[in-house]
Amino acid sequence: MTTDARTAADRAAAYWNAPDTVAEFRSLHARPYLTDLLRRVPVDGPALDLGCGGGRGTVALLERGFDVLAVDLHDGMVEATRARTAGYPSGRVTVRQGAAHAIPADDGIFALVVCYGVLHNAVDRVQWGTAVREIRRVLRPGGRLALNTFTSQTLDPRLRAGSGDGRYLLPDDVPMTLLSDAAILDAFAGAGLRPEGGTHSYVRDLDVGPRAVLRCVLRREED
Ligand SMILES: C[S@@+](CC[C@H](N)C(=O)[O-])C[C@H]1O[C@@H](n2cnc3c(N)ncnc32)[C@H](O)[C@@H]1O
Repeated sequence: MTTDARTAADRAAAYWNAPDTVAEFRSLHARPYLTDLLRRVPVDGPALDLGCGGGRGTVALLERGFDVLAVDLHDGMVEATRARTAGYPSGRVTVRQGAAHAIPADDGIFALVVCYGVLHNAVDRVQWGTAVREIRRVLRPGGRLALNTFTSQTLDPRLRAGSGDGRYLLPDDVPMTLLSDAAILDAFAGAGLRPEGGTHSYVRDLDVGPRAVLRCVLRREED
């Protein structure tokens, strides 16, 4: 990692590990679009909650019947998800510190990966692309990725353009990698993951500002 990327990662860690941020995410519950999706997909293998935050997706996956590996880069979130899932049998849930760009799991094992609100946190385009390939690596052939990520379709005026290639800086200098819907879907298609059903693009007015979102399910091609 370059010094610049390391400094950016430190700033992001300070944000995600802040007690208020952890407490906020721990208090959230899965949105209907995830619980509805989970009702439709078969439980035919383990699931990965990538960037699990405070564990709301992990709980939804467990309740649906999946065995779950929950992974988050930041220790505060790892501890929050561990605490939130402590009541489930230990054989059904593992919570591990790890990165989307270096997923701590074997190749081809997950029937479902949920990656909500995570991919745009890559500190640069290289890390972003590595995460796409990592998701493909851990999905089994025919497995699904439930993706929700911020995009560059609408840009918050408070974001500052960084060093190009999708890099933007929040007012507190925390980096985000924001790409167009087309660039995101192209990158996943290049890795062998294609949309199943429609894709949804919309703008959410969050307290931190407007955020364009792409939400879709992508399926890994059979080998
Ligand atoms: C917006 S929160 C979403 C949490 C959870 N998926 C949810 O829907 O509530 C983003 C999460 O991604 C984690 N994160 C940020 N960068 C990451 C990375 N490179 N690899 C794994 N997790 C990361 C953060 O620590 C945070 O918990």
